[in-house]
Amino acid sequence: MAKRQLRDNETDVDDWAFVDDAGTFQLDEPQRSSYLYFPLVNEAGIMSAVTPKLHGDVNASQHEFLTPPTAVEDLHNKRTARNFWVYEHGKGPWSAVGNSATQIPEEGPDGAESVSMEGGLLYHEITRKNDDRGLKAEITNFAPVRDDMVELMRVRVTNTGEDAKTITPTAAVPIYGRSADNIRDHRHVTSLLHETWTDEYGVLVSPTLSFDERGHTLNETTYGVLGTDADGTAPESFYPVVEDFIGEGGNLEWPEAVVEDLEGVEAGTEVDGYESLGGLRFETTELEPGETEEYVVMQAIWDEDPGATALAERYGSSEAVEEELVACQAHWTEKSNAVEFDTGDNTFDQWMRWVTLQPVFRRLFGNSFLPYHDYGRGGRGWRDLWQDILSLLLTEPDNVTDLLYHNFAGVRFDGSNATIIGDEPGEFKADRNNIPRVWMDHGAWPWLTTRFYLDLSGDLDFLLRDQQYYRDLHVNRASEQDDEWSPEDGTELYTDDGDVYEGTVLEHLLVQHLTQFFNVGEHNVMRLEDADWNDAMDMAPERGESAAFTALYAWNMLDMSELLGDLQAELGVDEIEIAQEIETLLDTLGESVDYEDPEAKQARLDEYLDTWELTVSGETMTVAIDDLAADLETKAEWLYEQLRDQEFIENEAGHQWFNGYYDDSGRRVEGDHENGVRMTLTGQVFTLMGEVATDEQADAIVDAADEYLYEPKMRGYRLNTDFEEVKTDLGRGFGFAFGHKENGAMFSHMAVMYANALYRRGKVEAGHKVLSGIYEQSKDFEVSRIYPGIPEYFSERGRGMYTFLTGSGSWLLLTTVTEVFGVKGDLGDLLLEPKLLAEQFDDGKATITCQFADRRLDLTYHNAAQAGYGDYAVSEVTLNGEAVNFERTDDGVVIEREIVTDLDSEAVHDLDVTLE
Ligand code: G1P
Repeated sequence: MAKRQLRDNETDVDDWAFVDDAGTFQLDEPQRSSYLYFPLVNEAGIMSAVTPKLHGDVNASQHEFLTPPTAVEDLHNKRTARNFWVYEHGKGPWSAVGNSATQIPEEGPDGAESVSMEGGLLYHEITRKNDDRGLKAEITNFAPVRDDMVELMRVRVTNTGEDAKTITPTAAVPIYGRSADNIRDHRHVTSLLHETWTDEYGVLVSPTLSFDERGHTLNETTYGVLGTDADGTAPESFYPVVEDFIGEGGNLEWPEAVVEDLEGVEAGTEVDGYESLGGLRFETTELEPGETEEYVVMQAIWDEDPGATALAERYGSSEAVEEELVACQAHWTEKSNAVEFDTGDNTFDQWMRWVTLQPVFRRLFGNSFLPYHDYGRGGRGWRDLWQDILSLLLTEPDNVTDLLYHNFAGVRFDGSNATIIGDEPGEFKADRNNIPRVWMDHGAWPWLTTRFYLDLSGDLDFLLRDQQYYRDLHVNRASEQDDEWSPEDGTELYTDDGDVYEGTVLEHLLVQHLTQFFNVGEHNVMRLEDADWNDAMDMAPERGESAAFTALYAWNMLDMSELLGDLQAELGVDEIEIAQEIETLLDTLGESVDYEDPEAKQARLDEYLDTWELTVSGETMTVAIDDLAADLETKAEWLYEQLRDQEFIENEAGHQWFNGYYDDSGRRVEGDHENGVRMTLTGQVFTLMGEVATDEQADAIVDAADEYLYEPKMRGYRLNTDFEEVKTDLGRGFGFAFGHKENGAMFSHMAVMYANALYRRGKVEAGHKVLSGIYEQSKDFEVSRIYPGIPEYFSERGRGMYTFLTGSGSWLLLTTVTEVFGVKGDLGDLLLEPKLLAEQFDDGKATITCQFADRRLDLTYHNAAQAGYGDYAVSEVTLNGEAVNFERTDDGVVIEREIVTDLDSEAVHDLDVTLE
């Protein structure tokens, strides 16, 4: 059956455009693009999404939603929004946010409206004008940088007509006030728990109980919608109950209370057991032509006793809200300033500000609390936690070192790890859902991040810090359960003697890699288990293998063995203590294992897992650093050879690349197939990055990727070719329509890692093609329909999906700083290895402002001849105008850390690097 060609989503819309150097952008008619949303968040814990028509929810956690939870389709399907009504006496109601039955997208009974939005750091502003009515509304939403879980909304209403108007404004924000679980689970019954009362400034709801996965617990959270006018005057009356507000047969887009201009109830009224509404009716007022009235609406969540009056007094006036907005802009501007680019393409420079903030957003929101989400219950995954730190080390280094250290407490002694991550650094929660899953890639990320940290800081002692291990009911790499264990027992691993066991950070890393080395399937490649980075490769737990991630582990082990040499050279550490049990895995130091024999390897892993049961001995042994390094090197080199020989494949057309996977039927996945050529991008990325691929193999990979994965429509590389099969012996992803998400979309995270790998291999043109494709596609608003930033993926139609919360933000910033601009660390020293193309210099200059060793550097590369990459080398370096010494590396220069740390930590320093 021929598939019907659906329309392309290209209609005539204007692009957004940056209007300054502070990341502020404007977009006309934003309501004509669906699925747009903007994040608002603060450190206190408020999390919101806001759309051009003020849809999107406000919440503080999975169990604390102030407004009804909205997944992406709800943004246009639901009538619940932050509505603000202007009842014009003599003319009737008008919604200042565009949500009324008479304001339809095309010219409606109310006449034509024009709408524009401005997005800034970090606020969302909508201007809506109706010339026929002679009304204009400017609505600004933001989360103040304070210790309050509150989203503020400032509404300015202007009479743009020629006659005076009499208006009665009404804010109407539904108060859902409970767990997202209750959308289907006891939706009505949980409204019976609502205790709703009106206070001087608004409506508050504090349910008696909370029904959710935690059981029936006494509720302590209060939800409120408060408001004032510009002078801090409270609303006149209130509508605390939805059904009273909408009236029989009405709805939130045509509520009887507004349409019929009905008075609300007074402050001090209590109505329990109904769906609640933050309905605030302000005083009726005269608006002369050209005159503006201003209102402040506060949407708040309190974990403790609500301080409604204090909150209303803090934010509820024209001056207060303006002051908070200025403070909010200053805060987020500073965050986005952490790394600044000056490339001559101002749109790129400003776009990168939003990318820089994306990992910060993910630190605050986790993965779940914007309208596009996978797992919707909060938290972040283990791998995301580690990868986000890659860029947070560049942007928020003060907070991150501790986080990095604490995260090691999530490693289990069997090499697996905790998967439910709490809100506090190093807080891991026992898996109450009891899902025994092991993602085989998880053990590989901590080393990448740790290595990056060590290079930036030179803090090799970090590896020798002691940290505990994680333990819960899942034992033996989640293959068994300890039924005796309960969460009250805590999540620390104990010794047989009852002490909490601690080992060095290095030991944790060793456990993660050594267990994995022996954990192979029938092709002697590491087992895929329940999935790798690609969460959707989750149906090959028995026989599946991931050559893709075997390559990453191999590279890590080689890199760790080299770093052990540095540990010895720099700190004079010749031997370290490790847990006695690990001896089994250091087979080259004792009874060796035949690496060619997968069964022998698995047997050795089992032997290790049998050396302890629930608790460890607490005994340690001493290992010489040389021996440890040699063991890792031997293992890594064996893996390199094996991957190069066994997994590098050639198809009939003569293309060559690395096979990334074996399926649950034990078959190699990639290569020619009766349904067409099968290739994955993931299979190529880590073989390139870690130099498993030889130079010749690397060239072949790039050709094959261009041939089979490049898709001009998305301006990028697909995650895989079309397998034309719901491949149930590999993963659920193959059930997705081709070209979407983990089945063949342009998946930014892996694409950016591909670019990173290409840059590392000196394939700068090819790497640039990947990155610039993503940038071009993102800013092509007509097709991508996203605000500035990198989306998780581009769909078959080229639309950007899952905006703001994606690991690709971290990798893009990392790659742009460390590879394109080549600013990196070398065990604490500053390494400069620029890989800029001629076209990336503006008038012979390319500038990046970033931090290194707690100093702010304004680094400009001078390339007067506008030479291309490969044709220039560093000839001179000056710091604040004075020449500095450097040492040459293969691709750049190293400047000693002391030269940087001698600089004043308060000032910005000019680092000028001449390329000739
Ligand atoms: C998401 C997940 C990430 C996973 C990826 C592929 O990517 O967050 O952990 O590896 O899907 O399944 P992201 O949204 O971070 O781009």
